[in-house]
Amino acid sequence: MNRHVPVLLADGRAQWLLLTTPLRQALESQRCTAQVVRSEEIAETARLVETASAYKVVIVNLLYPSPGREDRLEPRGLEIIATIRSRERLADSQHPALVIALLQSAGDDDLERRAKGAGADKVLRWSELAPRTAGIKRLAKVIHDELSRRELIPLALDLEESDEPGVLTVIDDVGRPNLCLLIVDLAADLAEHRVERAKLGYVAPGASGAHVLRADLTMANGLQRTWLLKLSDKRKILKRELANARHVGGAYGSNLIIGYLSRHPVSHAGWHAIAMAFAADAVTLRSWLCDPRSAGQVPGVLSALFLGHGLARPYGRSTLAAERAIDAFFLPAFRRNRVRQAVAQLRPLLSETRAARVDNPGEIVQAIGAFVRYGRILGVEPDRCPGRLRTVAQHADLHGGNVLVLQEQHPQPCVVDLASHRSQHWAMDVARFTTDIVMRCLDPLAEGHFWDRWPAWRTTLGLLSRFEAIPDDPRNPAAVAALRWVVEQRPALLPLMAEEQRWQWHAALVEQLLRAACREELPTPKRVLGLVGAYDQLVLAEAAMGKLSVAF
Ligand SMILES: Nc1ncnc2c1ncn2[C@@H]1O[C@H](COP(=O)(O)OP(=O)(O)O)[C@@H](O)[C@H]1O
Ligand SMILES: [Mg+2]
Repeated sequence: MNRHVPVLLADGRAQWLLLTTPLRQALESQRCTAQVVRSEEIAETARLVETASAYKVVIVNLLYPSPGREDRLEPRGLEIIATIRSRERLADSQHPALVIALLQSAGDDDLERRAKGAGADKVLRWSELAPRTAGIKRLAKVIHDELSRRELIPLALDLEESDEPGVLTVIDDVGRPNLCLLIVDLAADLAEHRVERAKLGYVAPGASGAHVLRADLTMANGLQRTWLLKLSDKRKILKRELANARHVGGAYGSNLIIGYLSRHPVSHAGWHAIAMAFAADAVTLRSWLCDPRSAGQVPGVLSALFLGHGLARPYGRSTLAAERAIDAFFLPAFRRNRVRQAVAQLRPLLSETRAARVDNPGEIVQAIGAFVRYGRILGVEPDRCPGRLRTVAQHADLHGGNVLVLQEQHPQPCVVDLASHRSQHWAMDVARFTTDIVMRCLDPLAEGHFWDRWPAWRTTLGLLSRFEAIPDDPRNPAAVAALRWVVEQRPALLPLMAEEQRWQWHAALVEQLLRAACREELPTPKRVLGLVGAYDQLVLAEAAMGKLSVAF
């Protein structure tokens, strides 16, 4: 099969004389060879479509002059479309032609419906193809993409076979032709050479539900490019990620953010894609902090991540919102429901002697329930929680999977996944970041599934939240170094936390720990730590507010 596209133009009007050559050229720039045959007479067109199945594309004008009454137009193009389709049915054709119907004026919805009913794949208006617009180019692209999807022409790039289950899942979901078309469209935006071959590898399922792939591309001039390709059926999320990356770009140092390759997501058949350069020698901060050898380099990497032109730069520039501070910590309904399920599932482990062995399980469950349902912080009703909400610009999904460490001469951090970047409560980024380290980087392997280290995790969490010295832990030197760094850098990371606002830091940890308790991919002891840790933070938040009322 070759990329030859024979097109039958069933339209007698002289305008097409102007467009035949541009259409052929536009198809050629889609790397097809094209032959455009014009048929003026309706009888001749009928004969052509009756006898020849050689046309992969038929463009049909719908309105023809009525025989004998040249001034009256009749929708005789509908007959042509019906003939093509009935012929294909009779021949049991596996590869039906692409039929595009042309309307002369806008607003003829009835005719559009009838054309689709007769079997037209697409209905266009003549005005959309005006010579000075990009209409013909768009038409050629529609033709090319649709013929690729129908396998009427070979795909524009060679997608290497893979037996990696992750890649096969994506091909199943997105479809091989759409995947190729998405890559071709992303490359077209780059004004580089065209992509000739692509080899895909699976990176991660992605927390957002997007598919994240590594694409090794060979360009026509022999150059190699490696992209991180993110595919999603939700265009809005990808669009927001690109828009945020553009806005945010200037706020941080240029080394901190990996640039995206295009300004807009490209789309095919309900799937959308964006791409950025692939950081080849990078690991996530999560896995970097699980490696004891990283310990000595932790302060340098975290300083580059947060300080100077890093993430903490805007943390001191706050905006006073209309809401109360406590409103920032209410969980949305679906999360409240998930916390309720997690409590029901994990409750037996709270007092169990082989598990957490806490002596007040009833109190813990009740306190979490009252916080989640009413925003109550132990004995303090939400109305009595002091302060208005102050927001600052934050990453807003700052966990160790969204920070990469580039393994250069000196390890260098960079931030990915800016889809959530926004103004939010000043303590949230740091609460999310530290909770993630405790949950994923303290005893990350088999140990995380056992209970012997559980009391130590709880203690560490308590010390961290009070900004007290965290003892050495030879098993987790890098994670402990990271938590110590956060304790030391409190003024830079939480510049808005004066004594009156301290309860809000604890409340932010409550919110993050409850979210962690719901994450089924975490080991059960860590999820239980989420519940008990949240309770401990409620106690600290209440105490912090108690001190205030004494002081007043
Ligand atoms: N530019 C990149 N180079 C290498 N790996 C990356 C890059 N961007 C993301 N990753 C990896 O892919 C994972 C998922 O990407 P991310 O953008 O966070 O997707 P999601 O929004 O679905 O969480 C990251 O945790 C990281 O491991
Ligand atoms: Mg992510």
